[in-house]
Amino acid sequence: MTTSIIGLLDSDPLAATLAKKSGFEKIPLDLHRFPDGEWRIRLLGKPDENVVLVCSLDQPNDKTVALVLLCGLLRDMGVKHITLVTPYLAYMRQDVAFNPGEGVSARYFARLLSGLVDRLITIDPHLHRIAALEEVYSIPCVTLHAAPLLGEWVRDNLSGIALIGPDGESEQWVSEVAGIAAAPFAVMQKKRFGDRDVRIEVPDLSAWKGRTILLVDDMISTGRTLMVVAEQLRQQGFDDVRALCVHALHDDEAAAKMKTAGINSVLSCNTVAHASNAVDISDFLLQGMAQA
Ligand code: R5P
Repeated sequence: MTTSIIGLLDSDPLAATLAKKSGFEKIPLDLHRFPDGEWRIRLLGKPDENVVLVCSLDQPNDKTVALVLLCGLLRDMGVKHITLVTPYLAYMRQDVAFNPGEGVSARYFARLLSGLVDRLITIDPHLHRIAALEEVYSIPCVTLHAAPLLGEWVRDNLSGIALIGPDGESEQWVSEVAGIAAAPFAVMQKKRFGDRDVRIEVPDLSAWKGRTILLVDDMISTGRTLMVVAEQLRQQGFDDVRALCVHALHDDEAAAKMKTAGINSVLSCNTVAHASNAVDISDFLLQGMAQA
């Protein structure tokens, strides 16, 4: 069965790269936004029976509707199998009812996507209280882990560094990156009280004086987690603090605030199209696509 590739919205350049590297034909899409905000979708070519649909799901609410419409169109055009390549998978952080009356959005979103596509490939979804995507998705899922890519990038581009993971969940990335880059690392403990209210106590790190400190996390959203750490590092006299993440979800305002807090540069994987992109994930995704 031959395969077509389609890129949705800002994932189109990544789809073009995957098409070039895989040899699959990319079918262009004409996406029109009506004045009332609704989408009109038009596929400018005939897809094969097997389609790889590339759509990172940062800013998911609008993109998900476009995805629903596109999958409907593909089925109407006779497509038998859709693989969704979504380097950033949304709604994974609402994995439990935190307060009475709340729902488990991760489950509801998984139900929706499982009804739209036949297979899903993603990178470092936020697996915390849900241990594996298969717990909530009823379709085959390929879950890739970007820490080795980050580690190789750090090893090849930085020296004289020490790494910090800002919370317990970041340990799986920071410990692996530190191992590959042969650098020391520490993991902090974080308490979250609200979207922008996090508390982290950074211990005395004077043994690392003179080193560049690299903060490593799976994602940056408001940037508060990293800012809270960076502010304390500055008080301890560290003047070269940088950050590296898998998924850069933050906007320009958060980027400016992180700079003010003392983070000299923020770099990310191109799982989300973002000005901070530095580590390319396209070969990695192709490996995931090749998995059964
Ligand atoms: C939390 O568990 C994640 O790993 C990140 O630390 C968090 O999502 C970052 O969010 P923010 O940038 O808003 O502090």
